[in-house]
Amino acid sequence: MKVTVVGAGNVGATVANVLAHKDIVNEVVLLDLKGDMARGKALDSWQQAPIDYYSTTLTGTESYDDTEGSDIVVITAGIPRKPGMSRDDLISTNAKIVTSVVKSILEKTPNPIIIIVSNPLDVMTYAAQSSSGLPSNRVFGMAGILDTARYRAFLATELKVSPKEIQALLLGGHGDTMVPLPRYTTVAGIPLTEMLEEDKINAIVERTKKGGGELVKLMGTSAWYAPGAAAAQMVEAIVKNENRIFPCCVKMEGQYGLKDVFLGVPVKLNREGIAEVIEIGLNKDELAMLHDSASHVKKVMDTFDGMNL
Ligand code: NAI
Ligand code: 2OP
Repeated sequence: MKVTVVGAGNVGATVANVLAHKDIVNEVVLLDLKGDMARGKALDSWQQAPIDYYSTTLTGTESYDDTEGSDIVVITAGIPRKPGMSRDDLISTNAKIVTSVVKSILEKTPNPIIIIVSNPLDVMTYAAQSSSGLPSNRVFGMAGILDTARYRAFLATELKVSPKEIQALLLGGHGDTMVPLPRYTTVAGIPLTEMLEEDKINAIVERTKKGGGELVKLMGTSAWYAPGAAAAQMVEAIVKNENRIFPCCVKMEGQYGLKDVFLGVPVKLNREGIAEVIEIGLNKDELAMLHDSASHVKKVMDTFDGMNL
């Protein structure tokens, strides 16, 4: 199996490194406009192999020739936000980058599975899927695993339990309108609502919604460890044909009463990509929040359409 990661910046290099540590693919190609940086990071990761014991080879490049025959492509190319920016502010730059990357990838590999990471995530997934002409089960985005992980980490800290014990679900766009679902959150099988008071849950839900911004404020750029690990986990589910269930950004085709909008919902991931979109029962408030998130994403999708790329 061969995986290409486009963009060898903070997130892309982390995806490549985490993936190599999993030792589940033969080859990772790390591609960036800055070829030497990609070569350097790939070589550094390869030199970690004798220490951490993996066989996955890593190659850095600026040439799409080296991506030929990729089974999976993870796209992280694009600019990250700076303090004061929203993810949506990135669209004019990143839409051009993502559509041109998709075109170059397809010239060398006609039918890959593509995982989008670049922001604004839901709209970049739309841009990639629509410009690729690939079926929507093969082009989808990473955000829900990250946002859910943030929510789970905050809960683990509050409850003083291992993060391993927290199972949770979160829907919606990758932005402040995301919809964490306390009703679908358990602590070692115990409903969260029996473990934590409502006001504390609400405070954690609010912190989760702004979780990306909290890190941008602290670091002056956006996060990479958890985002990189989240994208690598999606690759793992595909490579190992695991049928894992994760929230991923995918085209809605009637599910949850939504159509032609890209949004985070629970899906089953296996070697086909998205094997199934899972529809869970939502109460009136949860459904209203999901639809509100969808209309926010739809507006930014319209902005992308107006760019006529
Ligand atoms: P970064 O600036 O560290 O790396 C981006 C890399 O993309 C740079 O090395 C740049 O040279 C490269 N690049 C730009 N245009 C390119 C092109 N046309 N072809 C190949 N490479 C190109 O940024 P970072 O922190 O890695 O973030 C990358 C993207 O991922 C950003 O848009 C960020 O907002 C997004 N992101 C999304 C998350 C999510 O949950 N979906 C989480 C974290 C970041
Ligand atoms: C994050 O949530 C900025 O989307 C990026 O960290």
